[in-house]
Amino acid sequence: MIGRLRRASIRTQFMVFASIVPLLVIFLIAVLPEPFIFQNEKMLMGKGAQIELLVHQVRSARNDDEIEHLVSASASSSLELKVLPWSDVSGELARQTDDHLSSDALQDVLPADFEAVVLENTSDGEGHSTIAVRLDAQRALVIGFTGADVSPSSLSAVVEFIAKASILMLPMLLLVLYISRMITSPLVRFADAARRLRLDGNEGEQFTAEGARELRTLATALNNMRHRIRKMVDDRTRMLTAVSHDLRTPLTRLRMRVERSKDPASREAMLADIDNLTTMIEESLQYLSSTVTAEPPRKVDISSLLRTIASEFCDLGHDVIYCGPERFGYVCQQKALIRAITNIVENAVRFGTKVAVELRNSPQGGAVIIVNDNGPGLEEGLEDKVLEPFFKVDEARSLNSNSGFGLGLSIADEIVKGHGGSLLLENIVPHGLRVTIQLPPMQAVSHQRSQGPVAKEQTLAHEVPVK
Ligand SMILES: Nc1ncnc2c1ncn2[C@@H]1O[C@H](COP(=O)(O)OP(=O)(O)OP(=O)(O)O)[C@@H](O)[C@H]1O
Ligand SMILES: [Mg+2]
Repeated sequence: MIGRLRRASIRTQFMVFASIVPLLVIFLIAVLPEPFIFQNEKMLMGKGAQIELLVHQVRSARNDDEIEHLVSASASSSLELKVLPWSDVSGELARQTDDHLSSDALQDVLPADFEAVVLENTSDGEGHSTIAVRLDAQRALVIGFTGADVSPSSLSAVVEFIAKASILMLPMLLLVLYISRMITSPLVRFADAARRLRLDGNEGEQFTAEGARELRTLATALNNMRHRIRKMVDDRTRMLTAVSHDLRTPLTRLRMRVERSKDPASREAMLADIDNLTTMIEESLQYLSSTVTAEPPRKVDISSLLRTIASEFCDLGHDVIYCGPERFGYVCQQKALIRAITNIVENAVRFGTKVAVELRNSPQGGAVIIVNDNGPGLEEGLEDKVLEPFFKVDEARSLNSNSGFGLGLSIADEIVKGHGGSLLLENIVPHGLRVTIQLPPMQAVSHQRSQGPVAKEQTLAHEVPVK
């Protein structure tokens, strides 16, 4: 039943719940005022019992002394007793009666052979009332009640009302919570799936078609859209890769022809241009392959991976140190991660003279790789821009043979995102740039890449600088 309701259209779900809620409200209205309605009834019953007892005691008194004794004993309580001739009281009308405490109502709660009349019944909130009950042919017992001892406390009625209201409100609240959860949880799942969605061949990230009919239709439409976008991206990437690749052959032919040129000055210039073009094509191909290829993830020691990168740069004469644990097992795409970090360190040694590569345990359970340099850092506002492909801070430098094509950081960013992580650039004081790569816990990587479960094994040992 619940399952069918879950799969029904949102309109049907609303209609079902819209009919349940008024029913509950009607039930609430019907049940809640009960303590107030029966408050007077209870009061009357209490008075009736008291009157019956008193009349019985007075009637069974053997003489006037005993009656006198009873009357004086009642003075200590909140009752006022008097014995008067019945003729004095029977003619009197109740000075003020209300619906609930009339002579008739009193008669109903007293035994059938009792004759009673209400002499005074005030509605002053304190419930004072004087009642006369016939004892025998001549006498009547006049009983004066003061409110406190006979009327049930209105406080207890309020407490009862609150208790009943909470008993009914609780299921209503739970029902509303359940309904809102049932309707919104698929939307939250969609939002999550959309946030994690990548168009890089990760088949595991589909929108789940479950829940209400409209949501299932939406999930199917989103999956189709995702498939179409993915196909479009794949087609364009394939086309770009093919063009870039095919440019290599005419470039090689051009280089051979230029090398045969007689004019040494123009030959050098042309060869430099050809080199530039070749590098650009190589890097574009690298960037495109980083967004489409799916190198299988495997467990590697990223600590030794970082040490190797650092020592390779040291071999080229740069000052690069590694700080971090001696071993750090992590599941990743090894070649891709090496490329990402190499690109970052390449920039760092280009702009700075001292570079430190750090590895830390992330508080969330993953790994954090930090590359610090002592270069000039980035101008404010360029931290995100430099992650865009082909963006260079200083366009003029593109003519310089030392400059790149603005692809290094984009490639690194793509690779880190492919691992489910994030890349952050920030300037450091007094000068320099810090590039932080935040990698998620291994379970998240294995889940995202649709691989089997991977044991979490990370050892953070003492920091060893490597030069
Ligand atoms: N450590 C750094 N310090 C200062 N500026 C940097 C640093 N790293 C990158 N940049 C700036 O960010 C821009 C983009 O860097 P990116 O690595 O993407 O491209 P590139 O180094 O110019 O070329 P490529 O890496 O493709 O050879 C660079 O042009 C540079 O101006
Ligand atoms: Mg670079």
